[in-house]
Amino acid sequence: MSRLFNFAAGPAMMPEPVLARARDELLDWNGHGLSVMEMPFTGSVFKEITATAVSRLSALLDLPPGYRILLMHGGAMAQLALVPLNLAALGATPDAGADYVETGYWSGRAITEARRYCRVEIAASGESSGFTHIPAETEWRLRPEAAYCHITTNETANGVQFPATPETGDVPLVADMTSDFLTRPLDVSGYGLLYASAQKNVGPSGLTIVILREELGGHAHPLTPSVFDYSIQMEKDSRYNTPSTFSIYLAGLVFQWIEDQGGLAAMERASEAKSRKLYAAIDDGDFYRCPVTPEARSRVNVCFTLADPALDDAFDTEAAGHGLINLRGHPVFGGFRASLYNAMPEEGADALAGFMADFARRHG
Ligand SMILES: Cc1ncc(COP(=O)(O)O)c(C=O)c1O
Repeated sequence: MSRLFNFAAGPAMMPEPVLARARDELLDWNGHGLSVMEMPFTGSVFKEITATAVSRLSALLDLPPGYRILLMHGGAMAQLALVPLNLAALGATPDAGADYVETGYWSGRAITEARRYCRVEIAASGESSGFTHIPAETEWRLRPEAAYCHITTNETANGVQFPATPETGDVPLVADMTSDFLTRPLDVSGYGLLYASAQKNVGPSGLTIVILREELGGHAHPLTPSVFDYSIQMEKDSRYNTPSTFSIYLAGLVFQWIEDQGGLAAMERASEAKSRKLYAAIDDGDFYRCPVTPEARSRVNVCFTLADPALDDAFDTEAAGHGLINLRGHPVFGGFRASLYNAMPEEGADALAGFMADFARRHG
């Protein structure tokens, strides 16, 4: 059997050294005689594990003063609701609501969810192109009175990624970074708030990272559950209730691993190299197709179809036979998707690109 490369969109590959270390420490963390799983979250040992994870993440991001890192529950889906619940009152008028940029499936879900809580205006949409591009910033209709402007930096299902951070002036920029968090350098000061669930580039599921400018807290709708009120979680250092303790510990190990690889600049170089190889394999002839415009092609979720969908099952089965697994696209869209998160080694992209060329030669 060839080496296994897991292209799942999430939960996804973890760095092998992190899994090995977690295995070695599973029964006894650092001579304390306990597994991290068994530690009380209010105890000094777990507090130290959390503080280490947060300080490693702060260092990776060079976190600017005035920002806080929260370790929350509920996944990014919870944040689709918690952002409007916590921030909608920041608008210049009581019913100003928020602006959203629609770039694909996940920003669409963010819009639908936010509409349950506040007025939502679409500042720009990529719908006319079938979500194959990021609308030019010059065309965005931003309202100065809006509470915030929401974007999804990488559309995991559509394979579309913002090449750079947009400029929204005095209106806080809020971003769902679930699928590209920590895959490239990030200037946090360009954002009022950003969030990412862990299961792609941070660790196992169950943990959601929220980073926000401290002053944006304290405006939650009165019916916001306390556990989901950013200001309460800031005040309680993310320990208002039992946090995802084991996921936080593993996230700390992943942050250390990223630092050991050379930090976010190294992650970006690797993402660029891996994705370039796959897009080259797709663009080499007309056997494969990727409709996303080159400037907006995601470096972490490479989505493609076969020109002849009758070959889909053969592609999937043969790829799995070569150890290239979980390549099917998002259930709503079909086709294929190779997720190239940080833990995917370049050999994985090489192996997939080689297989794609060979498959096209044999079936083309
Ligand atoms: C961009 C984006 N936002 C939100 C989500 C939902 O995340 P969760 O399942 O952790 O709630 C996903 C999941 O894949 C995603 O890719």
